[in-house]
Amino acid sequence: MVRPSGTSSGTGPVVLAVSGASAQPLAQRALQLLLEAGEAVELVTSRGAIGVWQAELGLRVPSDPDAQEAFWRERTAVSTGQLRCHRWNDQAAGIASGSFKTRGMVILPASMGTVGRIASGVALDLVERAADVHLKEGRPLVICPRETPWSLVHLRNLTALAEAGARIAPPVPAWYHQPQSIEDMVDFLVIRVFDVLGYELGNLRRWQGPPHQPGSPGAPAAGTTSP
Ligand SMILES: Cc1cc2nc3c(=O)[nH]c(=O)nc-3n(C[C@H](O)[C@H](O)[C@H](O)COP(=O)(O)O)c2cc1C
Repeated sequence: MVRPSGTSSGTGPVVLAVSGASAQPLAQRALQLLLEAGEAVELVTSRGAIGVWQAELGLRVPSDPDAQEAFWRERTAVSTGQLRCHRWNDQAAGIASGSFKTRGMVILPASMGTVGRIASGVALDLVERAADVHLKEGRPLVICPRETPWSLVHLRNLTALAEAGARIAPPVPAWYHQPQSIEDMVDFLVIRVFDVLGYELGNLRRWQGPPHQPGSPGAPAAGTTSP
């Protein structure tokens, strides 16, 4: 049975969790857009993610929460919004408890290790514990798995999470919005993920149906304008 999980209706900060899959720039852009929008963010970066930041972008992300907050403020060049960073294994953090209210949680990107542990109810770090809390509290949890190809194990774990109420939103690019750059693609992916939670982090070019072709049924007659 699939538990319903919809758009966020609660109040409070959003939990942005980053695990050790490829696509760390998506996490950075998500943080930047959320803070620019004046949102409150509880950020938790897994130990695996800290290694991937180093491997993909040569970045040394500090584990210490205060140092990490200063790091992200400088890196995103955004002073608005509220940011609280958590150590990857701090199981005593507010977001480790169901009594701490949030608007929802996004794991971007989500490694297959993190997906598997959450699907099994094993919470070894704060990312997994916070996800476990969101599922048990029936709060929105959006998981953005990054791996290819997916094995049957990955697919079964993702299915179990969808059945438990998570939304599975893989960061898969689209072309219908006619991206002109990698930045356009990154923005589309990030804005679309948070769209699932009800956030409007940018101008999402929504599909309105195919453009009218001259002479096709329903096309405006020559010389007329459509609204
Ligand atoms: C550069 C790099 C890229 C990786 N990309 C992925 C990936 O896309 N998906 C994945 O599931 N694991 C990926 N991994 C492996 C995970 O980082 C590894 O399994 C790690 O233990 C996950 O830890 P976490 O789930 O605690 O974040 C990558 C590792 C490295 C070093």
